[in-house]
Amino acid sequence: MLSRLSNLVPKARVLPLARRSLATQTETPPTRTYGGLKDQDRIFTNLYGIHDFKLKGALSRGDWYKTKELVLKGEDWIINEMKASGLRGRGGAGFPSGLKWSFMGKSSPGRYELFLYILTPILYSFSFNLLYFRQRYLVINADEGEPGTCKDREIMRHDPHKLIEGCLIAGRAMLANAAYIYVRGEFVQEASHLQIAIDEAYKAGLIGKNACGTGYDFEIYVHRGAGAYICGEETALIESIEGKQGKPRMKPPFPADTGLFGCPTTVTNVETIAVAPTILRRGGSWFAGFGAPRNAGTKLFNISGHVNSPCTVEEEMSIPLRELIERHAGGVRGGWDNLLAVIPGGSSVPLIPKDLCEVALMDFDNLRDLHSGLGTAAVIVMDKSTDVIAAIARLSSFYKHESCGQCTPCREGTTWIDNMMGRFTRGEGNAREIDMLYEITRQIEGQTICALGDAAAWPVQGLIRHFRPLLEQRLSQSLNQVAHTAHVPQNYSVNASH
Ligand SMILES: Cc1cc2nc3c(=O)[nH]c(=O)nc-3n(C[C@H](O)[C@H](O)[C@H](O)COP(=O)(O)O)c2cc1C
Ligand code: SF4
Repeated sequence: MLSRLSNLVPKARVLPLARRSLATQTETPPTRTYGGLKDQDRIFTNLYGIHDFKLKGALSRGDWYKTKELVLKGEDWIINEMKASGLRGRGGAGFPSGLKWSFMGKSSPGRYELFLYILTPILYSFSFNLLYFRQRYLVINADEGEPGTCKDREIMRHDPHKLIEGCLIAGRAMLANAAYIYVRGEFVQEASHLQIAIDEAYKAGLIGKNACGTGYDFEIYVHRGAGAYICGEETALIESIEGKQGKPRMKPPFPADTGLFGCPTTVTNVETIAVAPTILRRGGSWFAGFGAPRNAGTKLFNISGHVNSPCTVEEEMSIPLRELIERHAGGVRGGWDNLLAVIPGGSSVPLIPKDLCEVALMDFDNLRDLHSGLGTAAVIVMDKSTDVIAAIARLSSFYKHESCGQCTPCREGTTWIDNMMGRFTRGEGNAREIDMLYEITRQIEGQTICALGDAAAWPVQGLIRHFRPLLEQRLSQSLNQVAHTAHVPQNYSVNASH
């Protein structure tokens, strides 16, 4: 274990190798650390709302600069540059964004086009035109319901023009003429600022007919949700925009083929789209220069829980978790040694205990190697005062409440998990039920229509993986208390199975 972890220990920053004259001296391979993003490399320069969020302020920060030229470069250039940047989606799953956008360009024909294609060769050329001009949609996921996550709302509040400009450019790359921004119902100020910025952009000719003078038409609509967590799942979100109950669809067909109103659609996160204009202006290779290989770029991190100064901050990907907490959040309450565990990527990912927090790097691959995940990069810090069983039980209640109920493993499983975690928190139960609980999570994981089932299973798996002795202790303590209050005989064994 230790030898495996030693590979993950943050390495020293790259320094220019000094010329050596002694042939006997061996060169150490260049290594580097991550973090300490400089101000000139920040994409979000109004994250804390110190400056004007409106168009005038946005222009002064460099937004909408040469947007026309970027749009006119066309879909192939935009998509290639996004691929070169190595950007992976910021909504949680970390799918490569350039590749995702390219699926829209190669969308397969719909049923109507196929019918025309088969009907008569004469109509073939007409059907090709239909295929090319078939309506496509860009949908921005601004639902941000993941507990601990609070980054997209900051963009909408303080930097909405970055998102609007990103919509235009991403929309152009996907040959879409309209974007829907699906905003969580509770985000009143965010939706208001966004609408103000959209109105300004229309008025200035930046979007709408002949957007930025490019000859390209592009509309943006804000759609308010009603606050259900499941509506953040991309197909449930599409259903919700269409006016139906927010329940995930079976895939395939994927949204890039049959999405909003039956048309090719890409659903993507606010942050993913908001960083695109800066990436294209500064070049994909600039963005790819941050973070470990396959984990490129800068990223918004949310640090909450038992830290001295909870915050949202833009940092380089792959920054060590400990450095992130100490540099930006004022450290763990009571000092690093008071740390118990961290949930590194929002409530859906397994927690990691202090010893792994020492070596964790904040990126997709490293956290996956530690059996956790980057998720939404919402870091929830728990110090030693935390009842970690109760903390995970609280999340189990959340997932039970938010399950849409379509799949049996999720609907029933989240209820069972919630009941068992509630009992475990109170110390009611038997140690052998820990394995039963683990087995239930395994029966949900990967067996459901959407990833909410996984999200309900993983935090509990993390608890059992790292805090099993604590669970056993809690359950045995309770049995001891029962034995004591019931005046059972002296030779009674609390470990005996009944
Ligand atoms: C239950 C559930 C809730 C989700 N909530 C959100 C959300 O609030 N915001 C978001 O961007 N993605 C959310 N996602 C992920 C989306 O389904 C989708 O993968 C994401 O918007 C893709 O954006 P990206 O490619 O930019 O990462 C959720 C997924 C699930 C399963
Ligand atoms: S996994 Fe849960 S939330 Fe997702 S579709 Fe199935 S029942 Fe609904």
